[in-house]
Amino acid sequence: MRTTVGIIGAGPAGLLLARLLHNAGIDAVVLESRDRAYVERRQRAGILEQGTADVLRAAGAGERMDREGLRHDGIELRFDRRRHRVDFPALTGGRSVTVYAQTEVCKDLIALQLQGGGPLLFEAEALAVEDAGTDAPRIRFRHEGREDVLECAYVVGCDGFWGVARKAIPAGLARVFERTYPFGWLGVLADVPPSHDELVYARHDRGFALLSMRSPAVSRLYLQVPDGTDAEAWSDEAIWDELERRFETDDDWRLERGPITQKSVTPMRSYVHEPMRHGRLFLAGDAAHIVPPTGAKGLNLAVGDVVTFARALTHRQETGSPQLLDAYSATCLRRVWQAERFSYDMTALLHRAPAATAFEDRLQLARLERIASSRAAETDLAEAYTGFPFG
Ligand code: FAD
Ligand code: DHB
Repeated sequence: MRTTVGIIGAGPAGLLLARLLHNAGIDAVVLESRDRAYVERRQRAGILEQGTADVLRAAGAGERMDREGLRHDGIELRFDRRRHRVDFPALTGGRSVTVYAQTEVCKDLIALQLQGGGPLLFEAEALAVEDAGTDAPRIRFRHEGREDVLECAYVVGCDGFWGVARKAIPAGLARVFERTYPFGWLGVLADVPPSHDELVYARHDRGFALLSMRSPAVSRLYLQVPDGTDAEAWSDEAIWDELERRFETDDDWRLERGPITQKSVTPMRSYVHEPMRHGRLFLAGDAAHIVPPTGAKGLNLAVGDVVTFARALTHRQETGSPQLLDAYSATCLRRVWQAERFSYDMTALLHRAPAATAFEDRLQLARLERIASSRAAETDLAEAYTGFPFG
């Protein structure tokens, strides 16, 4: 098999890239190791930056998002039993975010790809990227029990943190920047209307909690838990009790309970692989970088990378100039490091480290007070949360 762009992975990065290339008249093949149902059900991110929503719309993938997605003009910070609302449009010149789950973004992009896009092969596992440093890179993969080779002009590794693409970059040419955290998030989906109409990020002495949503009828909630926690060790009642404690306020706000339909634990990590390109192999999304989820940046970064790649390749096809492709890694990394910084800061602001001292607790509260009382500090948060410009 032969194609111009071989894409490994049908997460948001790979699927959107396939769409952008299709719209630009560039052929591509997507290889995905899992089956379609698995990809469409994997619960992950829920917040689209304004720029991400705009890209999906411009790519022709925004119709259901515009119908069913929820526009959010702010978030609430909760600390010391108090509530503070951050008003995004007022602080950023009109920007907002959209609550629309990653599962739905993927479903929409898969449907478009299967209707009129190029090949999208499920249960096709890439085994290795070969000859990345030459003009003729290849992806060796296994599909329907057989090994095969996809000959490409370019390969884009959109295969997430555990994928194979990154391994094709010689270790001697790469630098990795990494940090792990001694806690993770226990995430649940519950069949109950969200108890607040915007997201609530809560800092509590017992740990962080987040109230989010998937629809007006379905809540998505998270609890900071120790690293290595087994989700099944938490009964539904224990989860609701703990959420209630961490969201407590001095007013009459109440957390509504309902049946929990899914629960899982996500570990937290900061990770950047530099460079994001080697020869004709390009890395995009989680294959190149991971952020802790507190700033809701993972999916949005993946979108930024593939927009940058599609633009660069289109420029190359139209003008013959490799300038933008050559700048790909540096262009993406500027935005990646801003998101790394923001995600780290939000994590440090809101989580309680196991060995936190009383001094550090007071500093966290002072930082939150600062955001609540200074328009400059609040604007800094609002600008980063609603998103940095692409490229
Ligand atoms: P992925 O979505 O990981 O997609 C990679 C795809 O490649 C997958 O479909 C995988 O099956 C496929 N693949 C892997 N290896 C191969 C191979 N060898 N051959 C073929 N295909 C392969 N972000 C937030 O903002 N908020 C959250 O709450 C949040 N929760 C998360 C929970 C978890 C458990 C994880 C892992 C991530 C979470 N994220 C969250 C981050 C966000 O979901 C990711 O940043 C986003 O999915 C990145 O998209 P991607 O397309 O780069 O990678
Ligand atoms: C969601 C996840 C996040 O990481 C976040 O910061 C906000 C919302 C969510 O899954 O809804």
